[in-house]
Amino acid sequence: MTILVTGGAGYIGSHTCVELLEKGYEVVVVDNLSNSSKESLNRVVKITGKKLKFYNADVRNSAAMEKIFNDNEIEWVIHFAGLKAVGESCAMPVEYYDNNLNGTLTLLNVMKKHGCKKIVFSSSATVYGDPEVLPLTEDCKTGGTTNPYGTSKYFQEIMLSDVHKADGEWTVVLLRYFNPVGAHESGLIGEDPKGIPNNLTPYIAKVAIGELAEVGVFGNDYNTHDGTGVRDYIHVVDLAKGHVAAIEKIENSGVFVYNLGTGVGYSVLDVIHAFDKACGRELPYSIKPRRAGDIAACYANANKAKQELGWEAKLNLDDMCASLWNWQSKNPNGYNK
Ligand code: UD1
Repeated sequence: MTILVTGGAGYIGSHTCVELLEKGYEVVVVDNLSNSSKESLNRVVKITGKKLKFYNADVRNSAAMEKIFNDNEIEWVIHFAGLKAVGESCAMPVEYYDNNLNGTLTLLNVMKKHGCKKIVFSSSATVYGDPEVLPLTEDCKTGGTTNPYGTSKYFQEIMLSDVHKADGEWTVVLLRYFNPVGAHESGLIGEDPKGIPNNLTPYIAKVAIGELAEVGVFGNDYNTHDGTGVRDYIHVVDLAKGHVAAIEKIENSGVFVYNLGTGVGYSVLDVIHAFDKACGRELPYSIKPRRAGDIAACYANANKAKQELGWEAKLNLDDMCASLWNWQSKNPNGYNK
């Protein structure tokens, strides 16, 4: 069975390609390399010993997408391609809506034309906005997003659900990721953010290798166990396996929504201390003001994915930090050797 992975050269995409190839699927990747590197795919091939097909193209390019569907018998699409930085999305809303919404529309058009009606979408817990109750279940209210990135995920969920409403043969799987961290155990693939990272764990990793001076902790006066923000961090390999579980378990058409998280919330200080253990020294940090738009706590109820997909996260925070440190220390410049 052939699976098209859009954005397959990126952080979560490349880890998912590994899991798919290891399960014997044929993998076709389309990626415009705007925030990723072809080298990640070379490494995927090295890890798995298997080949994949790569198209350097933008999902908004319908002629290129048409060619991919003509060249290959695609049964499922896993759609990762899109822009994902919260702060940048506030400064560049037009680019974000163009990339994320037009990308999905072009993809859906081509899929429709070729009778391919199975899609797994890379969504985010950000669609819940500021949670009214914790832990978050899939039927919690969505919307109320606070930035164009989050709003684009919310809109894409609606677009995809409408496609199923109009044609009941479609299978639409919306996977809402919590906070993906860590790297493949080989240390060959991992997250390679450009410039100064916005997210917590890549920032900590850059402090650990000495590229940045100290971790800024954004607020210690939240209503959480130590006052710092609490999130549901999930190992990227567990997350990647969630996609394979969805493809293997879901046989019927419909709209299927799953939280992919561990169900456990860790604070910023918990994560820094876990990373201290992983890298063998105490990392410097200081308390800074709260970051605009941040919420106190966000974590999943992940029971639905366990019950229906037989999937649950197996790796813990120490595994996440150890694997991130392994990747970061072996590749201090990411894929740019
Ligand atoms: C953000 C996005 C989420 C996206 C995720 C991964 C929102 C509101 N959030 O999540 O959609 O899926 O990134 O890309 O849309 N922190 C520090 N110091 C730092 C960086 C972060 O203390 O230098 C704290 C934050 O205040 C927060 C926690 O660490 O409490 C996690 O932050 P971050 O890694 O940026 O992820 P989120 O904001 O949860």
